[in-house]
Amino acid sequence: MKRTEAVSPLPPATRDAGRSADPGAPVIALRDATLAFGDCVLWRGLHLDVRPGEFLAVLGPNGSGKTSLLRVLLGRQHLTGGSLTVLGRPPRSGSRHIGYVPQQTFQPTHTLLRARDLVRLGLDGHRWGPPFARRTTRRRVDELLDAVGAMSYADVPLGRLSGGEQQRVRVAQALATDPRILLCDEPLLSLDLQHQRTITGLVAERRRSAGTAVVFVTHEINPVLGLVDRVLYLARGGYRVGPPDEVMTSSTLTELYGTHVDVVRVRGRIVVVGASDQGTGHTHDDVTEGGGKQ
Ligand SMILES: Nc1ncnc2c1ncn2[C@@H]1O[C@H](COP(=O)(O)OP(=O)(O)OP(=O)(O)O)[C@@H](O)[C@H]1O
Ligand SMILES: [Mg+2]
Repeated sequence: MKRTEAVSPLPPATRDAGRSADPGAPVIALRDATLAFGDCVLWRGLHLDVRPGEFLAVLGPNGSGKTSLLRVLLGRQHLTGGSLTVLGRPPRSGSRHIGYVPQQTFQPTHTLLRARDLVRLGLDGHRWGPPFARRTTRRRVDELLDAVGAMSYADVPLGRLSGGEQQRVRVAQALATDPRILLCDEPLLSLDLQHQRTITGLVAERRRSAGTAVVFVTHEINPVLGLVDRVLYLARGGYRVGPPDEVMTSSTLTELYGTHVDVVRVRGRIVVVGASDQGTGHTHDDVTEGGGKQ
């Protein structure tokens, strides 16, 4: 498998942020990793290191295995082949070192769970024993809700919130445990421009101040283009990984898709033209901005 590979340059402030013997050691290491469901190979031969403080954008058409990759990293899905270590160990579910913003799911309208309850679960839901002191917990929950601009609906049941409002609460929950790895599955979906900026700003700050590695699945690279160290592009069972300037090119995507694809830059934005979703059985918009189907 040909791939565009480069070790991302990390800002000096993030270099010492890992809490292992070797602070620069990868927090995620995939070796020759393959994931298949029956005869359907989502990706094969994936070789990837993600280092502390790195921002990896994951792109690809519907069904290319982006969510499945996050599920593998979370220890909820086994690889079909190859190996994976997360924070130096085999992946295991429930790790408080990993924050996860799942692909958008809507809460049932009758749920009584409030925004602040969901964030509190992120703080102490994984712990056995007595909960944190009430005042400390409340203060931290308020801080997290405030950071995503959700204080005004902190006590509203989740089922009564809009998709974008729910999404912001999920981001607050994912940040609750001060994670070393943040896995975000299309976290900008349903968000207006202002709140997209709030969320990307938060993720950028988390990464800068704590060296958190970010794996960010998105159909739209432009809102995060200034943050991205590398792109992992999945399509047709293959992949390319490297800096955006190397992966988001006509020749690289044409080769990956096996059909002609144009990548053009317009006023600093990346526009992908003609990426058809071969090999996954889904169709694809002819023109997309910066990635797969919107
Ligand atoms: N447990 C499973 N068993 C069988 N097939 C599965 C399973 N999980 C996922 N798949 C299939 O694997 C493919 C990839 O799914 P995945 O959710 O990872 O795609 P995706 O890249 O996240 O797509 P989208 O952009 O639509 O979110 C899909 O065709 C899906 O139906
Ligand atoms: Mg998905």
